[in-house]
Amino acid sequence: MKVRSEEIGKPMKRETFSTSLTVFFATLGSAVGLGNIWKFPYMTGMNGGGAFILVYLLFVLLLGIPIMLSEFYLGRKTRSNVVGVFDKLKAHKIWKSIGYMGLLSSLLIMFFYSTVAGWVYAYVFRALKGDFRFLGDMGIDEARIASEGIFTDTLSGMAPMVWQGIAILLVAVILIGGVKKGIERVTKTLMPVLLLLIIISAMRALTLPGAAEGLDFLMKADFSKLKGSSILAAMGLAFFKLSLGMGTMVTYGSYFNKENNLMGTSFKVAFSDVAVSLLAGLAIFPVVFTFQLAPEGGPGLLFQTIPLVFSMLPLGNLLLIAFFVLTAIASTTAMLSMVEVPIAILTEELKLARKKAVIITTSVMFMIGVITTHPDALFGQVEVAGKSLFDLFDYLSSNLLLPLGGLLITLFVAYFTKKESLKDEMTNGGTIGNEKLVNLYRFVLKYITPVLLIIVFLNALGILSI
Ligand code: PHE
Repeated sequence: MKVRSEEIGKPMKRETFSTSLTVFFATLGSAVGLGNIWKFPYMTGMNGGGAFILVYLLFVLLLGIPIMLSEFYLGRKTRSNVVGVFDKLKAHKIWKSIGYMGLLSSLLIMFFYSTVAGWVYAYVFRALKGDFRFLGDMGIDEARIASEGIFTDTLSGMAPMVWQGIAILLVAVILIGGVKKGIERVTKTLMPVLLLLIIISAMRALTLPGAAEGLDFLMKADFSKLKGSSILAAMGLAFFKLSLGMGTMVTYGSYFNKENNLMGTSFKVAFSDVAVSLLAGLAIFPVVFTFQLAPEGGPGLLFQTIPLVFSMLPLGNLLLIAFFVLTAIASTTAMLSMVEVPIAILTEELKLARKKAVIITTSVMFMIGVITTHPDALFGQVEVAGKSLFDLFDYLSSNLLLPLGGLLITLFVAYFTKKESLKDEMTNGGTIGNEKLVNLYRFVLKYITPVLLIIVFLNALGILSI
């Protein structure tokens, strides 16, 4: 077997993904998730449509891609988890707080994310039972009310907690398999299927009577509808969507093979991720307008619209099952990367066995997640600053912790690492021939990304008003 120089002298061989294609699918598997299919459409709806999307795209370009690249750099260079990175680079230990914040974000996000993943699993089950079949025989108003009723019913009682448990259990089982036999095997098989299905769903929705109105809503940039809070929301979404600011991409980057073109991967992942979000928007908004649902309907949007669109089709129930199965897949592959952050820390920093680390982490996620994010559970009704714990975890992670982590990663890579080392990693030792792009990336990272981040923060805190 070929031994690579970087591995010589290391006691434990670290796993890596096999090829650039599997790197792409695993990383896209992390990015694509409930963020695209559930969050992007409802947030776009709540923040007025096209203008919000434009702002979001700007953040993907100026914050998302540079930060993703920086995370890849840290990971692949050091082959380490997000805490260990800073030891390997002999940085001041204060930087390790990035890693600990990442750990916290991973937990906070999993608490509510696994809840929604549980709803998705419940919908798979209901679709299999044929619970949505009758929607197709109803008038528009009746069908809308019935669909809303099914959603409310799915959220009540103890069942959603069981579904959440199942969603987390599946993640645990896959992660115990490790990087190649777990993460890589699952993502390379399922991501292509997911991409195909989202295209079919969007095409179907575009033939509905409300398609023109839906398209209009997505494409027309009416900036007067953009609220002040929308800017922070768009930034938070960009971080959440691309799994940035908490070390997910550091961790995955640490599993990339040496030949991978980091810049190429980041462009492809960011572009495909935006494409999937837009396709999800195209699948959902025509339905919203055809059935006269409120575009600003909030977190239930996906669950109320998709059954309506498929119920009107021949073989609709089959498509409905497939759509929710694939949403379940998307949420699962994203959770793999979310949970891998603490797993890598526990196995490498505390030298826990992988299986033990997985069991401990997922048990904590399940126990706290269940009691804090269900209205029918012990603490589900608690409100902090007018937000349910579910909303609070979402807000704190997306709008605060991830961007803060992203800012610190930006500052560290831009100002505290060696230019040559960064260039070397981005060009694979000068073999790619992308020096100009690397210079552009360094420029954006030094002068644009941090400034933009700070402006949005100050704006959100009310210190600056733009
Ligand atoms: N990117 C995932 C999604 O959009 C969520 C995620 C956030 C995954 C943070 C990992 C880390 O669904």
